[in-house]
Amino acid sequence: MAQTGTVLVLGGSSGIGEATVRRLVAGGTPVVFTHRTGADRAGRICAELGPDVRTVHCDVRDPESLAAAFAAAGEGLTGVVHCVGAWTYTRLAELTLDELDDAWAMNGRSVVLALQHAGRLLPEGGAVVVVSSVAAELAPPRQASYVMTKAAAEAAARVAAKELGRQGIRVVVVRPGATDTPQLRGSTSEKAIEAMAGAPALRRLGAPDDLAGVITFLLGPDARWVTGTVVEATGGLR
Ligand SMILES: NC(=O)c1ccc[n+]([C@@H]2O[C@H](COP(=O)([O-])OP(=O)(O)OC[C@H]3O[C@@H](n4cnc5c(N)ncnc54)[C@H](OP(=O)(O)O)[C@@H]3O)[C@@H](O)[C@H]2O)c1
Repeated sequence: MAQTGTVLVLGGSSGIGEATVRRLVAGGTPVVFTHRTGADRAGRICAELGPDVRTVHCDVRDPESLAAAFAAAGEGLTGVVHCVGAWTYTRLAELTLDELDDAWAMNGRSVVLALQHAGRLLPEGGAVVVVSSVAAELAPPRQASYVMTKAAAEAAARVAAKELGRQGIRVVVVRPGATDTPQLRGSTSEKAIEAMAGAPALRRLGAPDDLAGVITFLLGPDARWVTGTVVEATGGLR
C-alpha cells in the first residue's frame, strides 16, 4: 500500500527492519533506512531495490547520529519505523551499570528521541511504528534490561499517540515474538530457539516478513483509526 511520502526505517539493514524496507519499496513507497555495522549489506539492498531507497549510517544510542538520520530523510517524510533493539541474557543480579545504560540508550531513550523528531517533522496523516517485543509483557527471566527498556518505550509511544493525535499523527507499537532474524540466531542457542518455535499457537518462529506485513499495514491508510495501542504479532503466544 503506497504511502504519500518517504518512510524512515531505523534499523533497516537486517531482520525485521530489512523485510519492512523491502515491503515498502515493493509497494511503491520511497524509503530511507539506517544501518550501523552493516554498510556493505545496506549498500547491496539499495543496489537491489533501486533509486527509491537510500541508506544512512546511524547509531541510535547517539542523539546526534539519530538527529542526522532524520535530517537525511529530508523533506516529505510521512512515516517512521523504529526497528532497533537488542537484548542480553543477563540475570538481574548480574546486571552492570554499563549494561543498564546501554539498554536504555538503545531500546528506550532512542524511541523517545525518535518520537520527538517525528512530532516535529511528520505532517497530518503521518504515522510512527515502534517495534517493541512481547517480552515487554511476558517479562521472561534473564531479560530484565530488555523487558524494562522495551516497556518504557511502549509507554512513551502511548503518551506520544495522545500528544501527537492533535496533529493527526498516529503512533502504534508492534510486539513481535521470537522471529527468525540474524539477531535471534546470533544471540540464542539452537535448543532455546527450538523451544521458542514450539511455543506459539502456530508452532513456528515468526519470519521477518510476517512482521513487515503488520508494520506496513499500520503505516498505511487502512490503519487510519489505529493509534495509541499495542499490536501483538507472535503467532499466538498466549
Ligand atoms: N528477532 C526477534 O526474535 C525479536 C523478537 C521481539 C522483538 N524484536 C525486536 O525487533 C527489532 C529488530 O530486531 P531484529 O531481530 O530484526 O534485529 P537484527 O536482525 O539484528 O537487526 C537490527 C537492526 O538494527 C540495527 N542496529 C543495531 N544496533 C543499532 C544501533 N545501536 N543503532 C542503530 N541501528 C542499530 C542493525 O544495523 P546493522 O546490522 O547495520 O548493524 C539492524 O539494521 C528490535 O527492536 C528487536 O528488539 C525482535
